[in-house]
Amino acid sequence: MQKPLEFEVIKNCTHSKARYGKLKTLHNEFETPIFMPVGTNATVKSMSVDELKEINAQIILSNTYHLYLRPSDLIVKKAGGLHKFMNWGRSILTDSGGFQVFSLGDLRKIKEEGVYFRSHLDGSKHFMGPEESIAIQNNLGSDIMMSFDECAPYPASYEYIKDSYKRTSRWAKRGQIANKNPETQALFGIIQGGMYQDLRYESANELVEMDFLGYSIGGLSVGEPKPLMYEVLDYTVDLIPKEKPRYLMGVGSPDDLFEGVIRGIDMFDCVLPTRIARNGTAMTSNGKVVVRNATYQEDFTPLDEECDCHVCRNYSRAYIRHLIKANEILGARLITYHNLYFLINLMKNIRTAIKEDRLLQYKKDFFAKYYKI
Ligand code: GUN
Ligand code: ZN
Repeated sequence: MQKPLEFEVIKNCTHSKARYGKLKTLHNEFETPIFMPVGTNATVKSMSVDELKEINAQIILSNTYHLYLRPSDLIVKKAGGLHKFMNWGRSILTDSGGFQVFSLGDLRKIKEEGVYFRSHLDGSKHFMGPEESIAIQNNLGSDIMMSFDECAPYPASYEYIKDSYKRTSRWAKRGQIANKNPETQALFGIIQGGMYQDLRYESANELVEMDFLGYSIGGLSVGEPKPLMYEVLDYTVDLIPKEKPRYLMGVGSPDDLFEGVIRGIDMFDCVLPTRIARNGTAMTSNGKVVVRNATYQEDFTPLDEECDCHVCRNYSRAYIRHLIKANEILGARLITYHNLYFLINLMKNIRTAIKEDRLLQYKKDFFAKYYKI
C-alpha cells in the first residue's frame, strides 16, 4: 500500500525534547518543526500563491467547515480538488470542522452521531459527524486530514471532559473507517482531555491504539493560563510515539512556538500573524510594532530592520501606516506578507539551531531582543 505521508526525525536536541525532521506528502517534502499559514476559505487572506511560495510556505491549513458551506466540497471536487481549485501545488492540511462547529455556541447541538448546527452565513440547518467530515475532506483532497473532534471549552468539569474525549475517540475510529483515500490522504488523531492529566493519558492511549499517521494536540490555547498549557504539553507529548509527527493546533505566537518546539512539537498553525496584520500590527525581531500608531507617522525605516523580506526591502513604516489609516488593502497585504515571512523565517532559524544543538541559546537571544530584556 502506498503511504500518503512519511516522517523522519533526523536530529534530537540534547538539551530539550525538540527535534528536527522531514515530512513528506504526495505534494512536497519539507523540514520540521514547521509553521503552517491559515487559509480558511481556500486562500491565505490577501496572499497570492506566488507570494506564499516566495516566502517559502510549504504547507497551509484550510477548513472543512468553511469550504463545505461555501463554495461546497462538491464544487471543489469538480475543480479537481483543493490544490487545483486554489492553484497551490504544495501540501494542504485540513481541519475537520470540529473546532469551527464547536465555536458556534448556541447554533449547535452535540449528539453521539455528530453535531447539528446552523450556518454562520445564512442560518441554514446542517449535520456533520465523523463520516461527513472525512467525506468532505476526501472531496477536498487535502494531504493531511484531521479526525472530527470536540474542542472542549475551558474551564470544564472532569465529567464533561471525560464524556467529550471518549466521544472524540469513538468519532476518530469512525472517521478512520470512513476514509476512502487511505493511500493518498493521511489522517491524524486529535488528543483531547482538557487540562486533566489522566484524561489526556487515556485519550492519547486510545488514539495511539488506532495507529494514526500523526497526532494532533487539541483543546489547548482555549483561554487557560500559559503555564498550564505548557504543563499539559509536557506530559501529553510524551504519550505520542516518537516516530509520528506531532501537531499543536491553533498555536503560533513566538513564545508558544519556542515552548512547543522545546516540548517536542513538529507542526503549528495560527491565525495570529494574518489576523493582527489586518488591524495594522507587525511582528518584528524587536517585538510587536503597532504600525497604526502615530509614533510611526514619519518613520521611514522598514517594519523590521533585520528582515530581508520583499516588504522590508521596499516599503517604510510611514507608508504602511498611511495605507492602514486610509483603509487601503495594500496595507493589510504588506503586513500579512511580512508577518508570515517573519514566522516562517523564525521556524527556519529554530530548525538550524536544533541541527546545531544550540536551540536554548537561540531562544535566549531571540527573546532578549523581542522583549528588550
Ligand atoms: N484548532 C485549535 N484547537 C483545535 C481542536 O481542539 N480541534 C480542532 N479540530 N481544531 C483545533
Ligand atoms: Zn519583512
